[in-house]
Amino acid sequence: MLRVGEPGIDCVHESARGQYKVKVPIAKTYFDERDFELIQEPLKSGWVVQGSYVKRLEETFARFTGASYAVAVTSGTSALHLAMVALGIGPGDEVIVPAFTWIATANAVEYVGAKPVFCDIDLVTYNIDLAQVEDRITPRTKAIVPVHLFGLACDMDWLGKIAEKHGLMIMEDAACGLGARFRGKHVGTFGDPGCFSFHPRKAITTGEGGMLITSDQKRYELLQALRNHGASLSDFARHNAERAFLLSEYKYLGYNYRMTDFQGALGVAQMEKVDWLFDKRRERAAKYDELLRDVSFLRCPSCPSEMIHGYQSYVCLFAPEPVSPDSLADLNRRRDDLMVAMEKQGVSTRQGTHAVTLQGFYQKKYGIRNEDFPNAWMADKLTMALPLYPQITDEEQQYVVNTIISEYKG
Ligand SMILES: Cc1ncc(COP(=O)(O)O)c(C=O)c1O
Repeated sequence: MLRVGEPGIDCVHESARGQYKVKVPIAKTYFDERDFELIQEPLKSGWVVQGSYVKRLEETFARFTGASYAVAVTSGTSALHLAMVALGIGPGDEVIVPAFTWIATANAVEYVGAKPVFCDIDLVTYNIDLAQVEDRITPRTKAIVPVHLFGLACDMDWLGKIAEKHGLMIMEDAACGLGARFRGKHVGTFGDPGCFSFHPRKAITTGEGGMLITSDQKRYELLQALRNHGASLSDFARHNAERAFLLSEYKYLGYNYRMTDFQGALGVAQMEKVDWLFDKRRERAAKYDELLRDVSFLRCPSCPSEMIHGYQSYVCLFAPEPVSPDSLADLNRRRDDLMVAMEKQGVSTRQGTHAVTLQGFYQKKYGIRNEDFPNAWMADKLTMALPLYPQITDEEQQYVVNTIISEYKG
């Protein structure tokens, strides 16, 4: 059995590793005895669907983020979808989303029949370019969805002012944002609701899973109903109440986005060590900052003084020369060559995330060209995430950096 401090399970399955032996994977889940212990509890009790462990996870999560309420769901994507439904966004509405984010941010807008209006990003923070947001607002705009990418908060003061000026809602995609704070306040609590993901590449995991947070009691009740087919009462509450034989009332068109109690139990165990997990992630990110100080062709992640970084990933920009759309093809080829060479040496890297504006569905539907969102395009082609997980060792990080230096061919 694994113990705290011992290596966890590699995020990448053996069969998915290709021909080279991975020495340092991009991520490793961190499970200890407490995770193994709690995940068995639903098996022992026999209550395996959404129940008391999901409830405990929600309470702990709300406390950690400073939110009034939390609602667990099946993924970050289902959280985003429910947020759109709960905000009443639908056909004819526009929602501003960053062009460089995981595709789910934009897909959630599509799911409700609204139009995602893309906004380019800032190539230093990788977050939405605040200076361009107002230009994207039209009379149809209903909401802005800031994404706290890779664990770095957006400037929520600035966005709050724009939203207020134009009477817009803010819904935060904090899928990568657990542990991220702006001026001391946890992300996800600026807009409403805030959405999180518990995918294994995130700071805590329940396998798949997600969470919505809100400070509005009515919205909390609506979200609870929407994740459970629109029911006014959860199965757990009904089974533990009188007249359990009667089904509850269904007031809304809802979904089955319920988290299982196995996942809830694992989430509770993960949250018990969440402070330690973030201490480790930040310590390891600082170690990369130090080791990469003289590596001039990579630009390390930035963290403005008013932010606390959650370091969901440690994403560098491959920039041996000033980056521009003209130099992009050559720089992209050289970045990919470096990533291939590192893979051969057993070091996994990944592009940070993708530009949604480069994806076929969106290009075709909205006639988007790569150059319409140049920073998102460059981030897609030039970012490089390095291995980061709480249990990564000094030796592994040194090996990653030595490999970067030895395999860079100029
Ligand atoms: C920014 C962003 N939004 C949404 C999601 C979707 O989360 P999930 O994979 O849990 O559905 C992700 C997942 O990687 C993400 O990075």
